[in-house]
Amino acid sequence: MGKPVVALHDPFPGVSVDAAAVLDALASPIVVIDASGMIVHVNGAGEELFKGSAANLEGLALDTLLPADSPLFSLIEQVRAQGTAISEYGVTLQTPRIGHHFFNIQVSALAKLPGCVVIALHQRSIADKINHQLTHRGAARSVTAMASMLAHEVKNPLSGIRGAAQLLEQNCAPDDRPLTRLIRDETDRICALVDRMDVFSDGVPLRREPVNIHQVLDRVHQLARNGFARHLRFQEDYDPSLPPVSGNHDQLVQVFLNLVKNAAEASPKDGGEIVLSTAYRHGVRFAVPGSEARVHLPLMVGIHDNGGGIPEDIQPHLFDPFVTSKPSGSGLGLALVAKIIGDHGGVIEFDSRPRHTVFRVRLPTVAENGTRDGEET
Ligand SMILES: Nc1ncnc2c1ncn2[C@@H]1O[C@H](COP(=O)(O)OP(=O)(O)OP(=O)(O)O)[C@@H](O)[C@H]1O
Ligand SMILES: [Mg+2]
Repeated sequence: MGKPVVALHDPFPGVSVDAAAVLDALASPIVVIDASGMIVHVNGAGEELFKGSAANLEGLALDTLLPADSPLFSLIEQVRAQGTAISEYGVTLQTPRIGHHFFNIQVSALAKLPGCVVIALHQRSIADKINHQLTHRGAARSVTAMASMLAHEVKNPLSGIRGAAQLLEQNCAPDDRPLTRLIRDETDRICALVDRMDVFSDGVPLRREPVNIHQVLDRVHQLARNGFARHLRFQEDYDPSLPPVSGNHDQLVQVFLNLVKNAAEASPKDGGEIVLSTAYRHGVRFAVPGSEARVHLPLMVGIHDNGGGIPEDIQPHLFDPFVTSKPSGSGLGLALVAKIIGDHGGVIEFDSRPRHTVFRVRLPTVAENGTRDGEET
């Protein structure tokens, strides 16, 4: 079979942009393969990755450069079968030739050349990997352990201390009463904090049912605009055709309430605006830490604000408990969010720069048989 011709020249008269030069300017490796798996184009970043010139690489079969059992090849098959674009996050590619890399991969079909696909490999750092999908699980685990510890080791002695203070109060001199009251009030405060932590301990398993995510967001919106966010403008950008989520209504309300509360607290007093968005994202799959499994998390909810952004120094630990930049914050909001999203089999990520911060929550939908959608092993 002859080599397919890839149109790499701009067809607009008067504007001569060489598409190959554009691809060469990109930092991410881009590879085009034909229906037989042979490389027909590779950009400059691709030459660097595969340690060869385009002249040498073009004409080689991609599976001579990458292990045949790489998840990339099943992605390519899928794209050919469906004729759509698919993204996969967190794929490791490793060979002696290219070394060890961690990529977000995007594979798209070339409509005009049947069987041909374009592969874009977006390098991700290990820190990014941890931020993107592992942090919240790790954070949730450490919070779970801490919650159980607090309940046993702190709450019980505290009730003893409180009782003792109460007894002392009955017999002590009136001048000392403020001190015993101080002990009581402070133990009450610590008890309340421990109670807040209690939700983290792994007690009752999550009760799931089909949940309409827009009902959850409407509830959150209503609570926010009548309370802590009454001075802000809200905008809703919803995809009304979304299928239900497999989850727990009350816990999801808690998640989005925490996110909207943070957004409200970050927003400027004047001109503050929060955007709530939902969308269905085909073909976005995530690696499950510790296994080869990939889950399909097509339902995306975004909470956007135009506040000052997340302080850079806390970003790597954002979902850990007790991480806060607020004088009276407990730093439990996002840890709780991460725990609940993790229990739902979803993921949360954020992007933040001054005047635009977004938290994106991706969740599994309910398949027709009532189980989680698209879980693969
Ligand atoms: N939308 C946002 N914009 C800017 N910073 C944010 C945003 N969301 C979270 N943060 C940062 O993340 C930190 C942790 O948030 P988290 O909700 O866990 O705790 P908190 O809001 O400080 O306290 P709590 O929620 O327990 O009252 C915040 O203190 C803030 O610095
Ligand atoms: Mg908060």
